[in-house]
Formats: sequence, structure tokens, C-alpha cells
Amino acid sequence: MRSIDDLQVMGRRVLLRSDLNVPLDLTGTGRITDDGRIRASLPVISKLSDRGARVLILAHLGRPTGDTYQERAAGGPSLRPVAARLGELLGRPVSFATDVAGPAAEETAFSLGDEDVAVLENVRFEPAETSKNDAERGAFAQQLARLGEVYVGDGFGAVHRKHASVYDLPLLLPHAAGDLVRDEVAVLRRLTTDPARPFVVVLGGKKPSDKLAVIGNLLNLADRILIGGGMAYTFLAAKGYEVGNSVLEAGQIPAVREVMAEAERRGVELVLPVDLVVATHFAPDAEHSVVPASAMPADWEGVDAGPQTRALFAEKLADAKTVFWNGPLGVFEFPAFAAGTRALAEAVAAVDGLTVVGGGDSAAAVRALGLPAKSYSHISTGGGASLEYLEGKTLPGLTALEADS
Ligand code: 3PG
Ligand code: MG
Repeated sequence: MRSIDDLQVMGRRVLLRSDLNVPLDLTGTGRITDDGRIRASLPVISKLSDRGARVLILAHLGRPTGDTYQERAAGGPSLRPVAARLGELLGRPVSFATDVAGPAAEETAFSLGDEDVAVLENVRFEPAETSKNDAERGAFAQQLARLGEVYVGDGFGAVHRKHASVYDLPLLLPHAAGDLVRDEVAVLRRLTTDPARPFVVVLGGKKPSDKLAVIGNLLNLADRILIGGGMAYTFLAAKGYEVGNSVLEAGQIPAVREVMAEAERRGVELVLPVDLVVATHFAPDAEHSVVPASAMPADWEGVDAGPQTRALFAEKLADAKTVFWNGPLGVFEFPAFAAGTRALAEAVAAVDGLTVVGGGDSAAAVRALGLPAKSYSHISTGGGASLEYLEGKTLPGLTALEADS
């Protein structure tokens, strides 16, 4: 992969793909609750600008829905508040284009002066960005390519997506990998190259379908896998337990059963919650109590790991020499349901070895709970991207950056 240090950027329009997908307030105010990914993107933005580049940032926010640009833009979320925060953190003005590849983007791109920084609207407002159809993505990438002269890929959290701005666009322009991508890949390489054992992987979080698929492959790497958070309910359901109104992906139960059987055959320990905090509904002040994982009430939902689970997970981490943790154990954004994630964050911090926290939400949790960043070897900006790397998958965004340019 070419580095940005080897790229001519002075006076040139640089299309920079960053991952600015920050968490927004759960109650829908649109407030940015953790700006870690924006901060992690600053070094490359500053470096390019300092070298006289005209920096045009492409990024996504959330998962907009709808068949047309208009529908998606109407539903949001807009990147505008993210651009505003970027300007504050960068300490220089950042302009914002109100579309992605239309008249506003063109106007913005071609009026940039040397060292200027601009952000284009949420790239996922364009349905072609995420299209499965290569020709559709390719045509959109051509449109984007006209806006810039060179491409820099620094959005590590999105390199596992075969999307136009991540995969197709770099193939059309001279390109390089940003320093964030380079550093993230270097850490993941350490995890996959003869890691010290025991190697414990902890998986939680609220996007179970993203992660269920990866567990099968992690059986090749880890000695122990601890499963909590939203994904655990599908495992508990697979064991025949009631999971009430908890997040459940019933369609994945057969796959989960297979993973459990395979883990057993290979002697990889799969550890599930033994007790849970359950609540009447999803709200910060919902009535809640602790129940055994095998006895969840049918009309309540799981919102955190219970005290016995916290102790069990800590015990399973105590002798670890390598840890990868992705995803919170509960709704840590609500203080009443943060204890499980806090206990886990502390247990990982106490490990004497290489500890990597991966993923937007787990990284945000560590910061929200006030744990010092230096308690971990590395806090990654990528969740799904890190997991897919650990699985040994080919990541489209890295493949494109590795291609000759
Ligand atoms: C993330 O938050 O995992 C990355 O920004 C990628 O977003 P996605 O999971 O919606 O593709
Ligand atoms: Mg993701």
C-alpha cells in the first residue's frame, strides 16, 4: 500500500474517504455522543492540508434508507453537524456541500483553495454507493472521481464494505492509504501473527447479524470466545431459552447451533451470559431486575449482563495474553444498564498482554465510562472491519488501496 507521504498533493484536489460514522444520541436529538472517530481522522486531514492539498472529505453516517436520493436525504442523518464538529476540532474552517456528487459538491470542489477542507453530504444518500450492482457503483464512482485528482483511503471502519467510495473510486485515481488505515492494519497483523495465548475474543454489541457470521471463523484464532450484548440472545435462544423481547435473529439459530457444535469439537470455549439485567422496555428509567439467563420473563427485554456474568467474564479474561473485544455488553448509554460493559472494560484493562478494543460502540463505551485510553494496547476505530480482518477475509477497501496506482 502506498503511503500519503509518497503522494503528490500540493495544490491538488484530494478525495479523502474517512470514517466519520459517529454515534448519535439514542433519543433522536441528533447530538454527537462520541467524537472519537472524528478525532482519529484529524491527523491525516491536517497532514494533507498542511502540505497544501485541497481536501474534499467523503464519509457516511448511519444507514439511510429509501430508493432515491430524495428519500434518503429526507430521512437523514445529514453529515452537517459532523462537519461542524470537525471544523471545531481542526481549528480551521470546514465548508459543507449539501449534496454528494451534484451541483453543490461541484461548486465546493472547484472553489477549494490550497489547504482548504470541505465535507460532502452523507455519501449513503446516493443509493449507488451501497449498490450490489457493480455497474451502478462504477458509474457513481466515475461521478465522484471528477471532483478530485487523487484519492486517500483513511476510513478504516468502512474498509470491509464494497461500496463505491471505498472500493470503486480508488481504482479510478492515483491513491494511497492514510496513516490511520496503516496503523490499524499493523495492530491487526500482530493479532493474527502468532498471538500469545490464551487468546480471548469478547463479542457483544447490537448488530448481531453482522457478527454471527464471523464467529465460525474466529474459532480458528481464539482459545475462548465470550459472547454478550445483543448477540447473546440468539445464542440463548439456540439453547432453547426464553429471550422475551430481547434482540433476536431467529433466522440465525441454525447457524448458531452449528457454531456451538463446531466450537465443542475443536475445544474452543464459548462462554455465554449466566444472568442478565432485564427491563420492561427500552428506556433509561425502565423498571428492571436481574434474572438467570435460563429464566427470562417473556415480556421483558435483556439490557445488560448480570453480576454473575460480569464475574464469569472477568475470570475468563484473567489469564489471557491476547484480547480482542468488540461490542458493549448492554445499553451502556443508559447509566442503569452500564455496569456490565464497565466491568468488562475493567477486566480487559487488567489483562497483562496485548489488548485491542475494536469498534465504534466499544470504543465509545470505554470513553463514556471514563476509562483511560492507555489502559489498552490499542483502541480501534473499526468494529466490523477489524472482525473481518481477524477472520482472514479480503477487505475490499484494502484490496483497492493495494492495487497499483
Ligand atoms: C461502522 O460503524 O461499523 C462503520 O462506520 C461502517 O458502518 P456500517 O456498519 O453501517 O457499514
Ligand atoms: Mg459496522
